[in-house]
Amino acid sequence: MKVLVVGGGGREHAIIKKLKENKEIGTIYALPGNGGIAADAECVGIGATDIEEIVRFAVENGIDYAVVAPDDPLVLGCVDALEEKGIPCFGPRANAAIIEGSKVFSKNLMKKYGIPTAAYEVFDDAEKALEYVRTAPIPTVIKADGLALGKGVIIAQTREEAQDAVVSIMKDKKFGKSGNSIVIEEFLEGPEVSVLSFTDGKVVKPMISSMDHKRAGDNDTGLNTGGMGTIAPNPYYTDDVARECMEKIFLPTIKAMNAEGRTFKGCLYFGLMITKDGPKVIEYNCRFGDPETQVVLPLLKSDLFTIMKATTDGTLAETPVEFEDKNAACVIMASEGYPVAYEKGYEITVPGEIAPCVFVAGAKEQDGRLLTSGGRVLGVTAIADSLKEAIDCSYKMVEQIHFDNAYYRHDIGQRALKAKE
Ligand code: AMP
Ligand code: GLY
Repeated sequence: MKVLVVGGGGREHAIIKKLKENKEIGTIYALPGNGGIAADAECVGIGATDIEEIVRFAVENGIDYAVVAPDDPLVLGCVDALEEKGIPCFGPRANAAIIEGSKVFSKNLMKKYGIPTAAYEVFDDAEKALEYVRTAPIPTVIKADGLALGKGVIIAQTREEAQDAVVSIMKDKKFGKSGNSIVIEEFLEGPEVSVLSFTDGKVVKPMISSMDHKRAGDNDTGLNTGGMGTIAPNPYYTDDVARECMEKIFLPTIKAMNAEGRTFKGCLYFGLMITKDGPKVIEYNCRFGDPETQVVLPLLKSDLFTIMKATTDGTLAETPVEFEDKNAACVIMASEGYPVAYEKGYEITVPGEIAPCVFVAGAKEQDGRLLTSGGRVLGVTAIADSLKEAIDCSYKMVEQIHFDNAYYRHDIGQRALKAKE
């Protein structure tokens, strides 16, 4: 079997390492992959949004199954294009990926089907939005409608910040066309939980819960990033919360997408906030989270490829999705200065014995050496019986990995540890 994975970050590395456990798979191609992924897959220099080239490669190389991991190719219709050529895929078609691709769509969907989320208003006129924020409750949350590399959400603590956000998104087009419409929503409070789930459009099977650490600095200070570390399971996601989420959020979302003629297949990511009024949806993603995947998949006991094929075939109900009764922690090592400006090109050294725990995100291979090439460079995941052991073990491995200008948070998992006490 030849499997193709679209994408080239730490999440894709985690997916590929897990897929390799399946002995049916002979070759895995990563498009484009990266210097670290090259140890586990054949990397091909085709960009993740170059859909024409991806399809051409898949057809010419007789690919049996494709996993489309990142948001942009999904929203652009990569699955539709591959399926047209008869190549089965893991991931939603474009008409379902819109659940992440348009916040206006997802908010309206939740309102129409009574799925709990923050109260909101939609604007496609900057002047009307500016008028609204003059009297809106503060803090207020302003979101660009479309994809914005995870940066399209601004939490305005003052009226001036809210106005600046509207101007930069809608008038200055900071996120391009993604800012033609905006959502302005109620500020919610409570711990956040990420729940990735497998779905074939009929049933939904949640994976083990996780917690991301989005801010760049210790104690949740500094700018928002793509994610600086994760732990699983998330202690705030109790059995009661899980039951409530299944009944009020997960199943209603799958049904709503079907009712809209937009059946979702693949990984549906629920970004939740556990408020005093119960769990509410902060955002949907149409894909695996990064770096959530780096703690969730290492805990998966069942075979990933079998589950993926079941989401495509509609046989997920009969397919086991089981997780180890253990804890995982992933610490992201980034380039100092991320997410703003950072230097690249420094050599990375990883001792061989910890390489299986390392998921490479931003590195390239040059003359047999691995060099930093991105903001988030790699993630280090440890698994243990207790969360504390997993965290300690992950940091011990981090200390053995070297590159100049390395930066990481020192408090990954601390909030979760306190919540357990
Ligand atoms: P997103 O890019 O949609 O993941 O949002 C980034 C972060 O903004 C989320 O992880 C939350 O921490 C925060 N956020 C988004 N929406 C709200 C909201 N309505 N209330 C409070 N925080 C929010
Ligand atoms: N870690 C958050 C995301 O993947 O969107």
